[in-house]
Amino acid sequence: MTLGRAPRPAVELLGRHHNRAEFSCGKPALDRYLKTQASQDVKRRQATVLVVCEEPGASEIFGYFTITASSMLLTSVPEDVKIPATLVGRLAVDYRYARRGYGSFMLFHAAARAMAPEAPASWALLVDPLDDDAAGWYSRLGFMHLEAPTRRMFIPLATISSAVIAALKASREPG
Ligand SMILES: CC(C)(COP(=O)(O)OP(=O)(O)OC[C@H]1O[C@@H](n2cnc3c(N)ncnc32)[C@H](O)[C@@H]1OP(=O)(O)O)[C@@H](O)C(=O)NCCC(=O)NCCS
Repeated sequence: MTLGRAPRPAVELLGRHHNRAEFSCGKPALDRYLKTQASQDVKRRQATVLVVCEEPGASEIFGYFTITASSMLLTSVPEDVKIPATLVGRLAVDYRYARRGYGSFMLFHAAARAMAPEAPASWALLVDPLDDDAAGWYSRLGFMHLEAPTRRMFIPLATISSAVIAALKASREPG
């Protein structure tokens, strides 16, 4: 994929016009979340849910992810310090659109939002991989494991741009 090459998919807040019923990523928990819980989380301000579509206002969902303000504990300094971070709580691509770059595109988009000057300060992106496959995919993009027992992984925002851009360049344009 080459960044900046049109057409780019649209990223927008989950809305009533999006067809959740048809979304299928192969992981029932992530399909179920979109269909039954995502709107509730938005209403309760538990998460921001963003979807990727072909163009603004389109109903078909290519992929989705959630972002939430979070923090991570830095234990490698004399006193443990909590630093602000952005949690990408869920991330999934419809199987009909897999391996076209949408997954990496969504991570890049989450990083870009977290780094926007008006966004709350954040040092890293955090992710909760669903299983070993997902962890492998995140590590390929430069994410590192936090200390066990958590499965959570992180990447400093200072490095994600170059890591994701390199991964994006090595793959195809979404779509
Ligand atoms: C994981 C997921 C988000 C990837 O989305 P995607 O749009 O297919 O990802 P991209 O197109 O950006 O990247 C695909 C590349 O990652 C590689 N890849 C896929 N799974 C991988 C894995 N487990 N380990 C390493 N690389 C992997 C592919 O081989 C492909 O590389 P290629 O382009 O060189 O062939 C998608 O498969 C998905 O929704 N899976 C089910 C839900 C899930 O597990 N989500 C993870 C977060 S909980």
